[in-house]
Amino acid sequence: MISSSRLRSLAASAVLLAAAAVAHAQAALPNVVILATGGTIAGAGASAVNSATYAAAKVGVEKLIAGLPELSAIANVKGEQVFQVASESMTNDNLMTLAKRVSALSKQSDVDGIVITHGTDTLEETAYFLTLTVHTAKPIVVVGSMRPGTALSADGALNLYDAVSVAGSKDAVGKGVLVTMNDNIDSGRDVSKSINIKTSAFSSQWGPLGMVVEGRNYWFRAPVKRHTMNSEFDIDSITALPNVGIAMGYEGVEPTAIEALGKSGVKALVHAGTGNGSVANRIVPYLQKVRADGAIVIRSARVPDGFVLRNAEQPDDKYDWVVAHDLRPQKARILAMVALTKTSDTKELQRIFWEY
Ligand code: DGL
Repeated sequence: MISSSRLRSLAASAVLLAAAAVAHAQAALPNVVILATGGTIAGAGASAVNSATYAAAKVGVEKLIAGLPELSAIANVKGEQVFQVASESMTNDNLMTLAKRVSALSKQSDVDGIVITHGTDTLEETAYFLTLTVHTAKPIVVVGSMRPGTALSADGALNLYDAVSVAGSKDAVGKGVLVTMNDNIDSGRDVSKSINIKTSAFSSQWGPLGMVVEGRNYWFRAPVKRHTMNSEFDIDSITALPNVGIAMGYEGVEPTAIEALGKSGVKALVHAGTGNGSVANRIVPYLQKVRADGAIVIRSARVPDGFVLRNAEQPDDKYDWVVAHDLRPQKARILAMVALTKTSDTKELQRIFWEY
């Protein structure tokens, strides 16, 4: 017959053993920090059928984490609410604050990976900025959703689960900033929002780096452009971002926008030209004046894919213009801002646009 005191001590030992087993299991899991900034992934709609009509940036990071208990099996997760904005309203100051927080966390030995939840409208710009300026090999994964968590077939929960899984993966180390949307793992440099209302909104013209399925990563290519540890730019030494604007080319275009940007004191003007970055002949003199006044002219294209060929549609050497290579205008602006913190030499800038 076992005495009651013996039973009590056995029960206490069992509890201690179970607690030790849980602690051991948790110690084996990666530590992932989720930095929340807002967007649809934090959105809420009036009803489950509101997959496109909702308010973004409503749900806090703790509620996002609590709503996904499956995360506790793949990582030790901590959340921080950096800000709560719809991403079309992000500012350069927001970008700097976020990047500096990511950089600081990446230096902590108790952080294995970082996830940033973000609105999808400008997610590609933030992801590129981080890949250019945060010096860490640890996985940084930016994630959003196209439907609010309140909607039927919402995509945010699985996107977030995938992001935490990838951020805690050893095989994601050193691959630059990543974006997990719709089962894909894209590079923060290449990915763009190409469809404004589908869960398959994000794509890279050079293809995703891989896929994540049920918590396992399947890699098919690696980034070839400079990023993170191999970048000459470091957010920890950037104190401010220069003003860089974008003007679009289209049939019947007038120089109004270019003149206004020039007068506003932009340090660079990205021209989103038609075709292969073409510039209407009546607009060329206005871009030449922007250059003559000391700002950099960067020829990009409104056509999403392909890349702008130097000296093809315009004599870039003669005009001392820079071409944006395969970067869409909004990405070219991000690289121009970062590059201008180091140089305004057009030959150096063109090298930077070839390499990043
Ligand atoms: N307002 C948009 C944004 O925050 C909603 C789009 C989204 O997050 O998916 O980017």
